[in-house]
Amino acid sequence: MDYKRTIVITGGAGFIGSHVVRLFVNKYPEYKVINLDKLTYAGNLANLKDVENAPNYSFVKMDICDFDAFYQLMKDEHIDGIIHLAAESHVDRSIKDPFCFARTNVMGTLSLLQAAKLYWESLPEKYEGKRFYHISTDEVYGALEMTHPEGIEPPFSTKASSASHHEAYGTDFFYEDTRYNPHSPYSAAKASSDHFVRAYHDTYGMPTIVTNCSNNYGPNQFPEKLIPLFINNIRHRKALPVYGKGENVRDWLYVEDHARAIDTIFHHGRVAETYNIGGFNEWKNIDIIKVLINTVDRLLGREEGEDLNLITYVTDRLGHDARYAIDSTKLQKELGWEPSLQFEEGIEKTVRWYLDNQEWMDNVTSGEYEKYYESMYAKR
Ligand code: NAD
Ligand code: TYD
Repeated sequence: MDYKRTIVITGGAGFIGSHVVRLFVNKYPEYKVINLDKLTYAGNLANLKDVENAPNYSFVKMDICDFDAFYQLMKDEHIDGIIHLAAESHVDRSIKDPFCFARTNVMGTLSLLQAAKLYWESLPEKYEGKRFYHISTDEVYGALEMTHPEGIEPPFSTKASSASHHEAYGTDFFYEDTRYNPHSPYSAAKASSDHFVRAYHDTYGMPTIVTNCSNNYGPNQFPEKLIPLFINNIRHRKALPVYGKGENVRDWLYVEDHARAIDTIFHHGRVAETYNIGGFNEWKNIDIIKVLINTVDRLLGREEGEDLNLITYVTDRLGHDARYAIDSTKLQKELGWEPSLQFEEGIEKTVRWYLDNQEWMDNVTSGEYEKYYESMYAKR
């Protein structure tokens, strides 16, 4: 079949990438969707079982740092769109092994950019109809202060924040023009990759877009991140290692809402622009942990709150950012995107998914990961 477009989604076997691949494969049968992933510990093709036989889907196992292989793929498949999610993504790992983050997130991104440049510039139409869309994080902006620890009403309404939890922990937000100020090796590497992407637009005219999203939650997230890790630990009555006092604030968005935003921006976003993605949905870690405990307890037929005693305060993460809060007004006004789910609804769906998919959890937590987790947490 002749496809209208051929796009590569890097990191498509990971958490967010798998939701983006599923959305594109199902929504655009006229597109050929190539999932390019190295399948690190975080990549899992089981995340895509439901689309693996779709005629417009294919998988390529490749390291984004392999310039020659990617350049060849660009030529062979006549790629006209790249949605780039592949990355090392966990802050705690970046603190232990920053080199790996520089290699994948910086050099890998640069390698994709250069291969895309060489291929697209060799075509008669050059960059026309092409797009290099880079997925980044709000963490590149640094950390916000908690100026109103007791919570204030934000001056806007959104579907992601529910009526029972509609507060912001400060008066300031991350805007698209907030100065970059990354603190962790993870966010420093992501910031660097963002700069390279913009440099390819400014220097060579490549049609790039960058988006910076807040913390995602939902099915298929690797259980080293707060929400799936804690759901699994509550289920198995293992300690919940809360860093510091549990007062750090994160801004949470359901992963399918992020995937929908990526779809909207890939098709309708303006070239060379930056869009922040988030649902104005700030939570202190300790509050979210209590919601998780109550939800898991209820769904397992335990008494709600029975497992509160699992909360274990441990040594704080080095350089732990106090607060992230995204202002996504530009995306909402310009492209009409808004989150579809309220947080309680999203958390209920998420907890149910992990409880119903214990096999998925067992598969990803066995073997090497188990050893890594034990070594990270043994001393706490
Ligand atoms: P993830 O760790 O779940 O998945 C990353 C994927 O990239 C995995 O499938 C992995 O195998 C693949 N990968 C890693 N190194 C690779 C390499 N060298 N070559 C090819 N593939 C490689 O990450 P995620 O949480 O889904 O995040 C995806 C992207 O979104 C990242 O760029 C991340 O910075 C960004 N992001 C994540 C969040 C979040 O809350 N998770 C929020 C904002 C932005
Ligand atoms: P995480 O899911 O790692 O995302 P990020 O660091 O990118 O925001 O962590 C979310 C918050 O939860 C963060 O403030 C760190 C905290 N946290 C814990 O308190 N304990 C844990 O075991 C983990 C993994 C995270």
